Amino acid sequence: MTAFDPTHDSIRAVQWRGDHLCLLDQRLLPGEERWIECRNAAQVTTAIRDLAVRGAPAIGIAAAWGVAMAAQQGVTLEPVLADLRAARPTAVNLMWALDRMKRRIVAGADGDALLREAQAIQDEDLAANRKMGELGAALIAPGSGVLTHCNTGSLATAGYGTALGVIRAGVAAGRIARVYAGETRPWQQGARLTMWELVRDGIPAQLIADSAAAHLMKSGAVQWVIVGADRIAANGDTANKIGTYQLAIAAKYHGVKFMVVAPSSTVDMATGTGEEIEIELRDAAELLSTAGSRTVVEGAQAWNPVFDVAPAELIDAIVTERGVIERPNSLAMQAMFG
Ligand code: MRU
Repeated sequence: MTAFDPTHDSIRAVQWRGDHLCLLDQRLLPGEERWIECRNAAQVTTAIRDLAVRGAPAIGIAAAWGVAMAAQQGVTLEPVLADLRAARPTAVNLMWALDRMKRRIVAGADGDALLREAQAIQDEDLAANRKMGELGAALIAPGSGVLTHCNTGSLATAGYGTALGVIRAGVAAGRIARVYAGETRPWQQGARLTMWELVRDGIPAQLIADSAAAHLMKSGAVQWVIVGADRIAANGDTANKIGTYQLAIAAKYHGVKFMVVAPSSTVDMATGTGEEIEIELRDAAELLSTAGSRTVVEGAQAWNPVFDVAPAELIDAIVTERGVIERPNSLAMQAMFG
């Protein structure tokens, strides 16, 4: 594989600036690149809940900085930990990062030590993404086309990305010849965020309507669907952005391979199967309006689950920084993460 190309990785959306946290506001992209300054943990909680920062690893990292900032300010930490934990329910990276910070607090860490811990969480995530990029790209035959869903790139992580990291590495290595991104209704993470990252980093890609995915697979243009994860259960069942499940089903039908890319902080061995994963329901308003304008008749209602679960039997490979599990099941998961 050719060396990592730095021109394909220019975005860092979560930045600690000595005494406050700067977040690139993902609600406004691609129209506006505005940074939010969080000067207390409550502002970090709000930013996570309102999707100013989103993506499983990124919300864990932001939460860790929120805890460290609160410690530096002498704030009582138990309520801070509880508020951050309740900000979003599905992505286990949030709970993982808070548990890691809490272990350090219980062990007597002071504010400076907690800042170092938050920095370590962020640095480890970037390193994991680079490693997963190499491992995932190696699975892809030269000349392949890939379809991704949601946004799993630098915006969703410490940088580089999970599924999008594999795509960055695969493009740099000449293995990936065609990239397609689903728009990811209703919040449009694919259309607004993934396309922004890809254009900015010079990776040619085509946006598709979510409803075009099966037709694209049938055309033979894609050999892999590559997605991230918000929580991977002990049997390999994977919760990710709504629409991932139907992509996995369509991929199986068309003989397209299905890859999940996530750091080990997304693996939740305490959750037996996908059935036990709490699926976040968000406000119906996200579906009833587009870009702030009401598009559905007044009086209409909507159901807005924002994640679903792809069962392990539909997944060809789970790529983490620890290695690749092909055709995941409980035994293989236990062997790597037990
Ligand atoms: O609701 P979001 O935008 O936070 O959901 C994000 C996803 O579902 C991503 O695919 C997942 O977090 C992996 S990000 C590396």
